[in-house]
Amino acid sequence: MKFSKNILCIGAGYVGGPTMAIIALKCPEYKVTVVDVNEERIARWNSDDLPIYEPGLLQAVREARGRNLFFSTAIAEGIRAADIIFVSVNTPTKTFGLGAGMASDLQYWEKTAHQIVSHSDRPKIIVEKSTLPVRTAEAMERILKENKKNIRFDVVSNPEFLAEGSAVNDLLSPDRVLIGSQQTESGAQAAQVIADIYAHWVPADKIITTNLWSAELSKLVANAFLAQRISSINAISALCEKTDADVSEISFAVGSDTRIGSRFISASIGFGGSCFKKDILNLVYICRSYGLNEVADYWEKVVQMNEYQQERFVKKIIKEMFNTIVAKKIVLLGFAFKANTGDTRESPGIPVAKKLLAERASLVICDPQALENARRELAGVDGDVRYEADPYRAVIDAHAIAVITEWDVFKELDFEKVFSVMQKPAFVFDGRNILDHQRLFQIGFNVFPLGKPSLTHF
Ligand code: NAD
Ligand code: UGA
Repeated sequence: MKFSKNILCIGAGYVGGPTMAIIALKCPEYKVTVVDVNEERIARWNSDDLPIYEPGLLQAVREARGRNLFFSTAIAEGIRAADIIFVSVNTPTKTFGLGAGMASDLQYWEKTAHQIVSHSDRPKIIVEKSTLPVRTAEAMERILKENKKNIRFDVVSNPEFLAEGSAVNDLLSPDRVLIGSQQTESGAQAAQVIADIYAHWVPADKIITTNLWSAELSKLVANAFLAQRISSINAISALCEKTDADVSEISFAVGSDTRIGSRFISASIGFGGSCFKKDILNLVYICRSYGLNEVADYWEKVVQMNEYQQERFVKKIIKEMFNTIVAKKIVLLGFAFKANTGDTRESPGIPVAKKLLAERASLVICDPQALENARRELAGVDGDVRYEADPYRAVIDAHAIAVITEWDVFKELDFEKVFSVMQKPAFVFDGRNILDHQRLFQIGFNVFPLGKPSLTHF
């Protein structure tokens, strides 16, 4: 079949894979190729054992794969054939040199820009899909324009707002699609080509066009605002525990104000995921580099509050279990950074597990999707840790359960059965407030929710 356009995506990760699967599904007249340097990842995208767990994704991939969706490691060939190139490589926090621990590490992204230049022989539209510091497109344009072949490249920013665990739905029904371009005739034309892709299924009023810098910065700001709400309610959860107020009641009462809204104000052991912390630290770094220290301090507090919340959770476990957890068996229910994903990047489960192991607890980690990644995260960490997919086996002889991830399967456990096989006194620390605390108390557990009065038998 002759395709009307060739789309290439460089980077077959949590964003590149699902985004291109949905574009291919909705635009059968476009050929969509996803390339990556990671051969194993590409092999899994070409199988039914996809490299990421995402509800509904396998079905979408199966429908388009081989028709107009292709996964490959042939990067040079892909670049040559492409009309439009989405760059969706990772942009982690820098771990070395200037800006270490704060700034974005742009080495993968820059390498991609050079690859595009060396393998292109005609004009292309380059789309920033990765989350990048504001004004990165300027550097990208400079690299692309330095080519001796005199090829025209238009750079467009099209940040991705999908959340893991709901990626397919978020892509099918986005709140908005944001496209930023240079305010020139060719910039506007390039933005229109990208808008035409999304127009296959996204209503026109949800496709927002802005200048390049607003699009780049909007992405960092959106993540900062979302994370800020979580840190705000988590700060209040600490106050609730001192005053016998109930943080869930507060979330409901406060969130009922339509100006505030009810989403993203559930108290937790802290936000995780590959982006919130990384993007806020990047925002902080950018602000400091412009001398805006008060602005930087303001946003940095959001991250500090998140770390405080994780530490508070561990301290509570130690204190309530009579100030020692040496050799006590503690089951972490969940390790993914949120439900419906196997992703453990920046999961609050990681610092919690490390701190509990440092106190010489005996850990059992139980998660329906994230055990493979959990093993990787804790590789090389000293201590007694076991991985168990079956929660009923995990809790045998346990002294305590700590809920890390809000998986539905944990809400539906038979807690009488769980209680019967645990050591006594049996403790539950609910880091997500997902369990029926009164019922657990009646069964005999000592229950420690977040931001609510404890329910104890002593
Ligand atoms: P990821 O690590 O899952 O995937 C990135 C992929 O790029 C990897 O498979 C890596 O092998 C590949 N890659 C790196 N350099 C390459 C090169 N030169 N050539 C070919 N392949 C290369 O990352 P991700 O979670 O998909 O995130 C990608 C970007 O999207 C980041 O900037 C992130 O901030 C942003 N983002 C992520 C999410 C999310 O939910 N994960 C949501 C919105 C935005
Ligand atoms: C987040 C944003 O929601 C996406 O819009 C964005 O595209 C993405 O980051 C990104 O740039 O990577 P994601 O991290 O996948 O998506 O998942 P979220 O649903 O935002 O959850 C992030 C963390 O916050 C999770 O650990 C979650 O458990 C926690 N959370 C969320 C809370 O603790 N309380 C809440 O009320 C909501």
